[in-house]
Amino acid sequence: EKIRKDLEDARLDSEEALEAFRLKYLSRKGIITDLLAGIGKAAPEDRARLGKELNALKQKAKSRFEEAKSALASDTSRTLTASDDPSLPPLPLPVGSEHPLSQTMNEIKSIFYRLGFTIADGPELEDDFHNFTALNFPPEHPARDMQDTFFIRKDEQDPGRDLVLRTHTSPVQIRLMKEQAPPVRAIMPGRVYRNESITAKSYCLFHQVEGLYVDKNVSLADLKHTLITFASHLFGKQLKYRIRPSFFPFTEPSLEMDIWWETDNRPGQWMEILGAGMVHPNVLKAVDVDPEKWTGFAFGMGVERITMSRYEIDDIRLLYDNDLRFLEQFP
Ligand code: PHE
Repeated sequence: EKIRKDLEDARLDSEEALEAFRLKYLSRKGIITDLLAGIGKAAPEDRARLGKELNALKQKAKSRFEEAKSALASDTSRTLTASDDPSLPPLPLPVGSEHPLSQTMNEIKSIFYRLGFTIADGPELEDDFHNFTALNFPPEHPARDMQDTFFIRKDEQDPGRDLVLRTHTSPVQIRLMKEQAPPVRAIMPGRVYRNESITAKSYCLFHQVEGLYVDKNVSLADLKHTLITFASHLFGKQLKYRIRPSFFPFTEPSLEMDIWWETDNRPGQWMEILGAGMVHPNVLKAVDVDPEKWTGFAFGMGVERITMSRYEIDDIRLLYDNDLRFLEQFP
């Protein structure tokens, strides 16, 4: 009876008390085992009754132990131990960050939002019409080789149905103008692909942001103003730039914009950031827009180039390796 009472009253509110209880009542050296072993010395007529009572006691001890154990495990308010020091700073949580390309892309987008541009996009797998023909690339003209194209053969018997991985974002201009009558003012960010050898400076894919503005009386001065405003927001007010004549089949006249890029670690140099021009009348005709009534400008910029100069990244492949040691440098 005494043991039963002790066992029922035991306070099992810590790991230590629980272990002491187990040793005292349930282990092989515990008192119940001891008493069971002593049954043989009792009078024969008492043995059966004693055995029954002791076994009941053992069951009781077991169930108290199990109950207390699970109560302790689920009790979060248990006494703190040394390893729970609440004054220690928490372990750092690993938090991801935006890829440097996304950071640049988002900044470019937000500048053009403020200039009144909307956003459009199109497929990365294009057909010849959108990527070349509608953009005034003459058929079989070497201009198509200007951009080393990845072709996708749909039909072995009919190369005429080949698709291409778009080599620039300009085909989205065509899709947009087919969908929406002017005025149009949009940027078109996205991935483009070129079959170039992979080096520190070129990769088989990269990102462009295309821009298109078609309205009444859009002029070259509007284009220059837009580009300069954009670049001074992205690169800072002390921007030094130059605009050079260039050639693209889909713009006339065409130009390229360079910015002077200089950092503490690097001597200054001119860096080409975009191509642009006034939308060629043939492009407007290809999408049934009257070139006598509407004019427009377009531009296309390389996001990798811009990102690499801003963050002083000297190998384009770093942007595609997904190496955490690199990515963690752009919180
Ligand atoms: N599509 C051209 C390129 O990839 C860039 C460009 C876009 C030029 C729009 C003029 C107008 O090089």
